[in-house]
Amino acid sequence: MKIKKAIIPAAGLGTRVLPASKALPKEMLPIVDKPAIQYIVEEAVNSGITDILIITNRGKGVIEDHFDHSLELEHMLRKKGNTEMLNTLIDTANLANIYYIRQRETRGLGDAVLRAKEFVGDEPFAVLYGDDVIVGDVPATKELCEVYEKYGKSVVGVKTVPDELLTKYCSLKVDKVGDNLFDVSDMIEKPKITEKFSNYSVLGRCVLDSEIFGILEKTPLGAGNELQLTDAMKVLARDGKMMATEFSGKRYDMGNKLGILKANVEVALEHKEIGEDFKTYLKEIVKEL
Ligand code: UTP
Repeated sequence: MKIKKAIIPAAGLGTRVLPASKALPKEMLPIVDKPAIQYIVEEAVNSGITDILIITNRGKGVIEDHFDHSLELEHMLRKKGNTEMLNTLIDTANLANIYYIRQRETRGLGDAVLRAKEFVGDEPFAVLYGDDVIVGDVPATKELCEVYEKYGKSVVGVKTVPDELLTKYCSLKVDKVGDNLFDVSDMIEKPKITEKFSNYSVLGRCVLDSEIFGILEKTPLGAGNELQLTDAMKVLARDGKMMATEFSGKRYDMGNKLGILKANVEVALEHKEIGEDFKTYLKEIVKEL
């Protein structure tokens, strides 16, 4: 079955990037010249997704405005003959069918996903975490969708992470079954280092069967007193219904300051308008380090 729907949870508090994220959702922080969430929406669209639900709290208006037409700007660009930027803005407004819902209380990623129950219905769907930008030749969500379509099981996007990050993310019990492909039989959210299964962790992408909603509804609050998506996915894993794939792109964590800087530097170096100038500038300043 082709996956057509995706949800983007963007209702976290973003405390690690305050004060930048006080009035602006961290998902709207830019990487060079586009907000992080636009990279994520484009990844979804390039993976065959047509309908996207963005889960917001504050700053909903800013996200809606970004993916809508700005008639005033479009009129001005048309008048000035700036067709290139005009087309860029029009393309952004026409990327996909985008819907919005508010998560009224910040009760965790699992609770944010549960807000999408009506939107999703009984289809499989993709989840793209709003603060994880993945840059690569093949869209990460496409890689996950292909696994779902072939095996009919939920699938998480993984990479190995060092121990100090694993305790902040989650750890998966995996058996390799192919190139970059694993069966997952257990998982644990924010493990102590003595509890880890492996250094494979979920990094920002999953494709889930709609069965997850019934499980989430029965899942008690977990780590941090939040409803953890991992705790619900664990039920699927223990039931033999979960796989993992190591996606090929590079992931940037826009939820912390260093991640934001790395994303900006690396994307800027490849940018067709400023890449060369930026490289020259970087080479100059590294001499002084
Ligand atoms: P994080 O774990 O980074 O949560 O969420 P956070 O609250 O934004 O971060 P800090 O710790 O306060 O800095 C991962 C993704 O899940 C979303 C976030 O917006 C982010 O995209 N999320 C998290 C929700 O939508 N709702 C929640 O209740 C929690």
